[in-house]
Amino acid sequence: PVIAKVYNVSQIESDLAAHLQIARAVIVPGNTDVQPHLSKSLGDALNDALKLLLPLGRNIITVFGGVTMSSVASQLSPTLNRHRDLLFVPGRGGLGESVEIQSNTVCQMMANSTHSHYRTLYLPENVSSEAMKSLIKDENIGDVLDFISNSDAVIHSIGDAQIMAKRRGLSLETRSMLTDKKAVAECFGYFFNQQSQMIYKIPRIGLQLEDLNRIPRVFAVAAGQSKALAIEAYMKHAPSQSWLITDEGAANSILKGK
Ligand code: F6P
Repeated sequence: PVIAKVYNVSQIESDLAAHLQIARAVIVPGNTDVQPHLSKSLGDALNDALKLLLPLGRNIITVFGGVTMSSVASQLSPTLNRHRDLLFVPGRGGLGESVEIQSNTVCQMMANSTHSHYRTLYLPENVSSEAMKSLIKDENIGDVLDFISNSDAVIHSIGDAQIMAKRRGLSLETRSMLTDKKAVAECFGYFFNQQSQMIYKIPRIGLQLEDLNRIPRVFAVAAGQSKALAIEAYMKHAPSQSWLITDEGAANSILKGK
């Protein structure tokens, strides 16, 4: 049934994609906020979307962290790796997540589920820009950064600004600035208000928002009515080739407000 979802576009899916000006929206039934088991359907839908869009042969897939990403990771199937050679790499080093949901862990989980390969990127949290310059020269780190800039696909989620600011351990001062400026969305270290203006960026090396434009396949997996505002605020920055994999909770709430 999920296969049918990815191959057949429903009216509400095409309305949502048109509203967000992206290539595709895939909507799974239910509301993740009250039905956490829906992450299985989100993972299946992501798996089918990857199966449909990834070319055969070598694919470098850059992935981010978070609860959504780690819960969909186990749904990816080894058949994705058939006639393909997948390499999962983490998008940005050290965004202050706990180990279980770090992009490094998600990479490893996705590689395990698909019987493929992964690389890790461990960078310290607070280093001077001088120290960072010499870290980038490290062969291992440099290799991963090259993989990231040559990605065939990116998979990320979208989060609520306040929850993410706290989870990423931002200072009280930065958090109150985000409150004053009415931040509603966070996406791999960038914060946006409801008008989609970028109001803060956590400086980190790795994939930058502007890099997404030249990556041929971009998948955002974010669901639950509580994420509707965040999804809509971020999506104005999403490149037009983006696919959004979401649920009815978020989709209905976004379309109701348009
Ligand atoms: O760090 C990656 C990321 O996917 C962010 O883009 C997003 O804000 C966050 O994780 C979402 O996390 P969660 O799935 O835990 O809400």
